[in-house]
Amino acid sequence: MRATSFAILSAAALASAAPTTPTSQTATVVVETAHGAAYNDRTNRTITVPIGPTYINTEALGAVSTLYLLGPDAATCTPYKDAQAQVNGGLPFSVGHPSYLSTNSVVVGSLICQASVPDKA
Ligand SMILES: *[C@@H]1O[C@H](CO)[C@@H](O)[C@H](O)[C@H]1NC(C)=O
Repeated sequence: MRATSFAILSAAALASAAPTTPTSQTATVVVETAHGAAYNDRTNRTITVPIGPTYINTEALGAVSTLYLLGPDAATCTPYKDAQAQVNGGLPFSVGHPSYLSTNSVVVGSLICQASVPDKA
């Protein structure tokens, strides 16, 4: 009995000592596309965007009405009209603060997601 409970405690100690630091940072972005005039004629597509570099995805970002950030909380993404991230394409978006680009759909040339201090408001 003694030996068994010792083994269980050791396993628990090892599990809690597992590293928790993420290796690479990515943001989870929902691209909402409007297909017609009807408000409910919309579809969602989830993409994974690396935090830092300019992200280009002509297929997923070719028709965008609204951009949502699902996570992480400590990130903000900005849409650009061009692939070089020079021409601003809309307001930045963060968790709980989607960016409404158009009631129809517009082309987003690129996205840049950056780490930010979590918004406690
Ligand atoms: C798309 O996802 C967002 C965020 O989760 C949600 O608010 C919206 O209602 C979804 N739209 C559709 C068409 O599913």
